[in-house]
Amino acid sequence: MKSTQVLLSRRPDGEPKPTDFETVTTDLPPLEEGQVLLRVRYLSLDPYMRGRMSEVESYADPVALGDVMVGGTVCEVIESRSDHRAVGDQVLSYSGWQTHAVADARHTRRLDPDAAPVSTALGVLGMPGFTAYAGLLLLGKPQPGETVVVAAATGPVGSAVGQIARLKGARAVGIAGGPEKCRALLDELGFDAAVDHRAPDFRDRLAEAVPDGIDVYFENVGGEVARAVMRHLNLYARIPVCGLVAGYNAAGVPEGPDRLDGFMRRVLTKSLTVRGFIQSEFEKEHHGRFVEEMSRWLADGSVRYREDVTVGLDNVVEAFNGMLAGRNFGKVVVQVGD
Ligand SMILES: NC(=O)c1ccc[n+]([C@@H]2O[C@H](COP(=O)([O-])OP(=O)(O)OC[C@H]3O[C@@H](n4cnc5c(N)ncnc54)[C@H](OP(=O)(O)O)[C@@H]3O)[C@@H](O)[C@H]2O)c1
Repeated sequence: MKSTQVLLSRRPDGEPKPTDFETVTTDLPPLEEGQVLLRVRYLSLDPYMRGRMSEVESYADPVALGDVMVGGTVCEVIESRSDHRAVGDQVLSYSGWQTHAVADARHTRRLDPDAAPVSTALGVLGMPGFTAYAGLLLLGKPQPGETVVVAAATGPVGSAVGQIARLKGARAVGIAGGPEKCRALLDELGFDAAVDHRAPDFRDRLAEAVPDGIDVYFENVGGEVARAVMRHLNLYARIPVCGLVAGYNAAGVPEGPDRLDGFMRRVLTKSLTVRGFIQSEFEKEHHGRFVEEMSRWLADGSVRYREDVTVGLDNVVEAFNGMLAGRNFGKVVVQVGD
């Protein structure tokens, strides 16, 4: 069996270019006992992948040059040497940017196609949905009547944060790029207010949207949005620091005054709790309950989601860049084969 693979061939400088990658066709090794042969159906594209392309120190090692780019996938088992997986099973795997892969069966999770579309295992019912759930409920701890603000609010993490906040009785304010996304926040996703961070009067509109200040700022983006949010934080506000996507393509430290002292003064005077996290730290203890609750919310319509599907591995770099630049609308997946 052959696999078409996208390898990282160069460390990108700024926005990744197609020439930073190489597409090759490789023979896969024969299956060993306990392994399965997978045909990739959907590949998840996530902002963290930009960090894996770079050598800057992070919570995970970079992808080595010449290796297949990493990524979560939904696959079909097409051959099995495991008693636990049968041909035809749909599974969650981490096989990366390629069309076929050999994996240990115990590193896959079987999906139930009757319970939800299998692609949701990469989005609302998968890692991004769990990130929102754990970060908001365990660290943000929203209380009824409080105001929760989140940016990248139409994406898989942000849209779940806002909707879960509302389920807990809080007021959800979403920040997104452009009027179309802001309209969807109000009409489709049930946010209480939406603010366009690209609008020239963004800071004024944000002030209007949070008349009682902000109790939870779920930090997804950093940059200008974070600077605008800071002045509205209430006493004892919580900031789960989930991601800083505004700077993922940055080549170095941004120019401008050093604002660290001002930020620390605000942490002190407002008794803020600022807590960074990687979702995996909560997985063992809370993932089961997440799947249970999120499945129920999806079934009864209290949580909605959108997927942004790109067809074909040939378009993976363009789809990835589109996501970091905000050209996506919802969870970005590549339909690799069907
Ligand atoms: N800590 C963890 O364990 C963990 C796990 C998963 C994800 N994350 C983080 O969660 C965040 C959201 O991830 P996601 O998968 O849901 O991504 P996403 O929302 O699908 O995509 C990123 C979005 O960020 C917004 N954005 C980009 N540059 C921006 C800027 N300068 N200012 C404001 N918004 C900007 C864009 O939306 P607009 O068009 O609305 O601007 C873009 O669509 C990312 O920071 C990611 O790294 C963290």
